[in-house]
Formats: sequence, C-alpha cells, structure tokens
Amino acid sequence: MVSLTFEKAASSAPGKVILFGEHFVVYDKPAIVSAINLRARVEAWRYGRSGVWIEYRMLVDHPSTKAVEYILEKTGFMSGIRLKILSKIPASVGLGSSASVSVASAASASLISLGRIDRELVEKAALEGEKIVHINPSGIDTTIAICGGTGIYRRSRGFNPIDIPLKKILIIDTGKTRRTGEMVNRVREFSEKNKDRFREILSREEELINDVLDAFKSLDLEKLGKLMLVNQSLLREVGVSSLEIEEAIKLALDAGAYGAKLTGAGGGGCIICLADEDKIEKISKSISNKFKVYLTELSAEGLREEKI
Ligand code: MEV
Repeated sequence: MVSLTFEKAASSAPGKVILFGEHFVVYDKPAIVSAINLRARVEAWRYGRSGVWIEYRMLVDHPSTKAVEYILEKTGFMSGIRLKILSKIPASVGLGSSASVSVASAASASLISLGRIDRELVEKAALEGEKIVHINPSGIDTTIAICGGTGIYRRSRGFNPIDIPLKKILIIDTGKTRRTGEMVNRVREFSEKNKDRFREILSREEELINDVLDAFKSLDLEKLGKLMLVNQSLLREVGVSSLEIEEAIKLALDAGAYGAKLTGAGGGGCIICLADEDKIEKISKSISNKFKVYLTELSAEGLREEKI
C-alpha cells in the first residue's frame, strides 16, 4: 500500500489550566485540568537538509526538536523537517505552552511522515519534548493538549473527561517567568525532608479532589473557592508559591473572588480565580493596573490538523 505523505502540514494544540492538583499529580495523585482557548500552531515542511530545523536553525535543546526527532526515528522518515512555531500561549507562566508546542510539532511531523496524526505516537513524542523542560513530567500537560476538554488526570490511569459547570476562568499573570523543573525539584526536596507530612499532604489533596467533584455537581462556587484556597495552602507549604502569587490572590479576594490559587508549576507564573460572572469585571479592573489579566474559555478543543 502506498501511503500519502505531505510536503507541508500544520496543526494546533491548546494551552491549559490546572484547576486543582498540580505537583501532587507528579506523585500519582489525581488532578483536574482544562484546555483553554489560547493555542499554539506549528507549520512543518519536508526539508532538504536532514534533521529538525526551527525556522532555519537547529535548536538541539528545544522540546519541539526532541518531539520531532522521536517521530522521525519511529517512522523511519529519511528527509529533514523545518518548523515554524506560532504560539498565542504566554511561555513559562504555567499555561502549558511548551507542551502545546511539542504536541503540535509532533503532530505536524506525523502528518508529513505518515500522512495522518498518529495520536499515540504524538503523545510519546511530546513527552520526550517535555523531558527537556523537566526530567519527570507527569504527562498532564501533553495529555490535555492532545485531548482538550476538561478531565481528571492521573499518571497511572491517564485522562478521564468530565463535564464541569464552569465555562470561563479568570487568569492573572504575575509576569514572573520560572522553570518548571526547578519547581518540581523544590517539591521533591520538600518530600525528602518531610516524608510523613508529605504523605499527609498527598492524601489531603486526594480528598480535596473528591470534594471538588461534589462541589461541581452541586454548582457550589463558594465551596469551590474555599477548596481552591485549601489547595493553595498545600502548594504554599511545599514551597511553590511566591510573593507575587500571594499578592495577586489577595487582590482577587479583596475584589470579591470566591477563591484563587496558582496554576501550573508556581514560583511566579499565573493564578486562576473563581468569581460570580458579575464580579469578574470589577476583579479584572482592580488587578489590571498591577498584573495582566485574561478571561479565558475552558474546555477548549484539543489537538487538530490545520489548513496550510
Ligand atoms: C506543570 O504544568 C504541572 C506540574 O504538576 C508538573 C507535571 O505534572 O509534570 C507542576
């Protein structure tokens, strides 16, 4: 059988917010994650020179390079590939930008070398790319970039889609970028120095996820807000909050939010905050002279092929 491959291809994948459970998901606890309507698009061309080229440069330590190399190796593709990355997802602030870029890069390479998006292969390839960002990714960021929607992710059990009553969420960007790997290491150090307490924190987090699912069912925003603050206190205890995060949370609460917490790796980056729709404008206004604010849609579509 002759397979149809492409000279050029494009695909896109969404960013994400972790609503509850970041970091603890690395230790196989459940987390709730949602795709957002900010996307990364990656265009790819079959290229005369071998290897992976981002624009006209070979960037060895780039997640896209690693992800595409994996695709080329597994599919036995002989030519090179050139990529163009166009991302609307702010980088290094917890919104899953590197995972989306890795996923879209791998998917476009899969289109060029196989003529279709092999999702299983793309998932493995993107995880290789994520290992550049930190050695031990749970896989939550790449999984949501592929699947889209909202769901519960557990490292050992994968992704389970759920319906949630929230359509939008307010994201506040502290503007401070940081490295996911450093934050994951910080938690590992905490866990090694405080073994018993860390075990308690992990089981508290697991209970919390069950309470969150109940609060979603009864549409109890006030309870969800309180649970966000509990989640934030656990994240603070393991050392991944920051002065900027605490300041942004305080501003959001003072302006009438039910709750707020960091999202992603922390140490800066973004917080999410939960409020009644009629309060969102007031909260945005009172924060926007200090931090960037985005009102984003949740449960966005996952990985998809794009026209080129
Ligand atoms: C980063 O978006 C989420 C972390 O839990 C790391 C991971 O799960 O791989 C901090």
